[in-house]
Amino acid sequence: MISRSTIQKVNDAADLLDVVGSFIKLKKRGANYLGNCPFHNEKTPSFTVSASKGIYKCFGCGKAGNVITFVQEHEKLSYPEAITWLAKRYHIEIEETQQSNAEKEQRLVEESLRIVNNFATAYFQENLTTTEGEAIGLSYFRERGFRKETIEKFQLGYCPEAREDLPAKALEKGYQKDLLIKAGLVYERNNQLGAIYAGRVTFPIHNQSGRVIGFGARILKSNEKSPKYINTPENEIYSKSRTLYGLYFAKNALSKLNECLLVEGYTDVISLHQTGIENVVASSGTSLTEEQLKLIKRFTGNLTILYDGDAAGIKAALRGLDMAIEQGMNVHVVLLPDNHDPDSYVQSVGLEKFNEFIAKNKKDIIVFKLEVSLKEAQNDTVKKTILINEIAETLSKINRLEDFSKQQDYIRRCAQLLQIEEEGLISLVNKKIREKVVKREQIPAAEAKDLEQQANAESIHTQDISDHLLKKDYLQEKGLIKILLEYGSRPYDEHVSIADYIRLKVGDADFVNILWQKTYHEYYQLLDRSLQYPDIKTFTYHDDEMIRSAAIEALYFPYELSENWEVKHQIKTPSREAVYMQEVDNTVIYFLLRKIKATYMELMDELKITHDNLEEEMILQTSLLELKRNEIALLEQFRTVLAR
Ligand code: UTP
Ligand code: MN
Repeated sequence: MISRSTIQKVNDAADLLDVVGSFIKLKKRGANYLGNCPFHNEKTPSFTVSASKGIYKCFGCGKAGNVITFVQEHEKLSYPEAITWLAKRYHIEIEETQQSNAEKEQRLVEESLRIVNNFATAYFQENLTTTEGEAIGLSYFRERGFRKETIEKFQLGYCPEAREDLPAKALEKGYQKDLLIKAGLVYERNNQLGAIYAGRVTFPIHNQSGRVIGFGARILKSNEKSPKYINTPENEIYSKSRTLYGLYFAKNALSKLNECLLVEGYTDVISLHQTGIENVVASSGTSLTEEQLKLIKRFTGNLTILYDGDAAGIKAALRGLDMAIEQGMNVHVVLLPDNHDPDSYVQSVGLEKFNEFIAKNKKDIIVFKLEVSLKEAQNDTVKKTILINEIAETLSKINRLEDFSKQQDYIRRCAQLLQIEEEGLISLVNKKIREKVVKREQIPAAEAKDLEQQANAESIHTQDISDHLLKKDYLQEKGLIKILLEYGSRPYDEHVSIADYIRLKVGDADFVNILWQKTYHEYYQLLDRSLQYPDIKTFTYHDDEMIRSAAIEALYFPYELSENWEVKHQIKTPSREAVYMQEVDNTVIYFLLRKIKATYMELMDELKITHDNLEEEMILQTSLLELKRNEIALLEQFRTVLAR
């Protein structure tokens, strides 16, 4: 592990402008810098860098972060890899934290497994050239249409039928028996060692940097008793759920084409590659896992699933759907003609026809799921109800803060296909979102049930309003966090700072959005603990990812309204800096007004259900009056602020 102090040094030394500037051309625009976004294709620049804050944001694709996330994204590196990259650039020596004995032991096993896998890869490759290997292994690959350079590129091989050969050669080289067993290469029975893959062809599985971490071995005779493929068991370096076959060979094409094709098997990946389609990976016979999705997402957000058109293929394609949606991926599905898998299809029709077929038959997966299920349900109303609920569940997983219009589009299309009212589907989706929020906050079951019943009882109308409110609150809360982070340490008047002023006015107000709430509390906690105003970098480099991205989002004002005025209309507007006191006042007042409105609505709702309790009604009415008074006072203050 890299030590904290090294990370600190890198944070201090790394200069975002310098790093970004070495990849793209930046032009100064007002306080910021502007350039073409390196993360998506664009002609007019919308990638902005704030050098003083050390953060960037693209207003085209929404990517945002600090210098470390930039290096991670741009160079496709993990966090420690990005730190190492930056350390090298700024000549900072990397200090490792002390490794425990257990960690050292783990490293040792990992390295040994890599070495023994290298040995095995070479052994299998050599055995493809023996008389037996040529007659059995190589002729099989030839029959499958794999060319020589393809066999070499994927390091395909053959394990001879003589089971004792591999263990004997391995022991001779000094590899321990236990290691060979752990690697899944060898078994032990009656004190005899044997090669597990004997008589099979071998497909090495590479990790992202091209090292062999395991194997798939295919049987050549049809034998009902043994499985078609034997795969490496889970060990220190091989984890099935975290591996995608072919990723190492697909890396460049994935970024370049901004699309990932997903197939089922080893041979599909290899055949497509051989034909010239390189942006392809395989999930190796299981449905896609979250870790695999995240791996793909490092390279592209567009996933196209190519599966057999049979029922099992369809089911498999749909299994990872909700997860992919949650990750914000755009997922399409292509069903291949009957009795074809990608391997057999590409080999029978060739590159052009294959690509043409995909382009023509690519379907949005949500719409696809709906069509398949509708066909299945036919006129069965019970089935259709279940289906509507399922679709609402799926749609509720689209991140609406990022993709509000995407969710709306889907709702419209799905409502049409289902032949139901759009409003009905909207309210169902909203209900699902609320249920999730309730679950996440871990409200006790009884209370959750109450809330759910309450939600059910609500009319669509109030629901739309509350939703609207929720979205509005997001902006007000974000605005408050922005001025807190940016101006907190400055004086408000001769007695208090802006941070003090905000605390006085806002206090422990309930935030609707947890990320703003968390950032707000963190600010005052840091302030109280150190008696110093935390600076912006404390937040934009915060260990807690939620706080970090909240800060980065908050600090980016929608870009330069004032500049557009200047550029387009030659009107000089005062800089934000000059009018920041006004911004502080406005933001606090907006925030409070919003909270009052929300409380007001809540009380009104309560009033509606207290029909015959006069006393309670009186209390509610008084509270409402009090709120109205507060609101009027705030509006008055607002007017004086504007007039100033
Ligand atoms: P397929 O049966 O479609 O295999 O399984 P394939 O790769 O297309 O092989 P060919 O074309 O028949 O030679 C798809 C994937 O499922 C996994 C493998 O990863 C395979 O590539 N699988 C399949 C297993 O792990 N074990 C099995 O017994 C079968
Ligand atoms: Mn196949």
